[in-house]
Amino acid sequence: NAARKPLIAGNWKMNGLGASAPEFVRIVGAYQGSLKNVVDIMVFPPATLLTSFATSTRGAGVIVGAQDCHPAPSGAHTGDISAEMIADAGGKAVIVGHSERRAEHGETDAIVRAKAEAALRAGLVAVICVGETEEDRDAGKAFEVVERQLEGSVPNAARAKTVVVAYEPVWAIGTGVTPTVEEVAEMHGRIRRALQARFGAEGEGMRILYGGSVKPDNAAELLRAGNVDGALVGGASLKADDFLAIAQAAR
Ligand code: G3P
Repeated sequence: NAARKPLIAGNWKMNGLGASAPEFVRIVGAYQGSLKNVVDIMVFPPATLLTSFATSTRGAGVIVGAQDCHPAPSGAHTGDISAEMIADAGGKAVIVGHSERRAEHGETDAIVRAKAEAALRAGLVAVICVGETEEDRDAGKAFEVVERQLEGSVPNAARAKTVVVAYEPVWAIGTGVTPTVEEVAEMHGRIRRALQARFGAEGEGMRILYGGSVKPDNAAELLRAGNVDGALVGGASLKADDFLAIAQAAR
């Protein structure tokens, strides 16, 4: 779909110190060329690096965001960060509902939806993650689980420009194993139909990213699958060369 500009997003997870800044600066530098016209790039560093990354990308077009937010705008929530704080730090996007948050912090669809609503309230793009476990898939429940997560996690106010859906099968994250291109296309087709049914033309325009063991050598193949509008990259986003190679594969 020509209306959906490809998006390559890097989720650094709990990795990255001040010493990692040059990797990010290299991404920003490389993006200034022809890449900028054909692909959007987002980088999600740990919150400790958000301000410095937002400063170094200023005007360059690489979008910087956070990996999580609290649903409330402020208050007595020790250790949490609000969507408004992310925006204030120069962030333009936030990941919500990553499977690691769902598993390690017990985040339910309702919580993820409240976080996505907070993102929209603060003017951030919400990258909403869904994905089945290996157990779900073996039980033949992958579509059912993902459709339920979508229904529960995507807010009614979602629009093509403000929400990105990331399909990350949990069993493919950090394992080096990926679904086949056919499996990815089938799931993304299901997600597209669910978004269209609920949001009409806005659902047609929403970008759906694939995530889970995307590397320079499998990116082109995965990105060619139907309804794959980009990738959410974990491990391979930490090295500028690998990440840029994946971004090149999206053009
Ligand atoms: O959010 C991206 C992620 O979960 C995928 O991680 O390391 O398999 O690319 P990785």
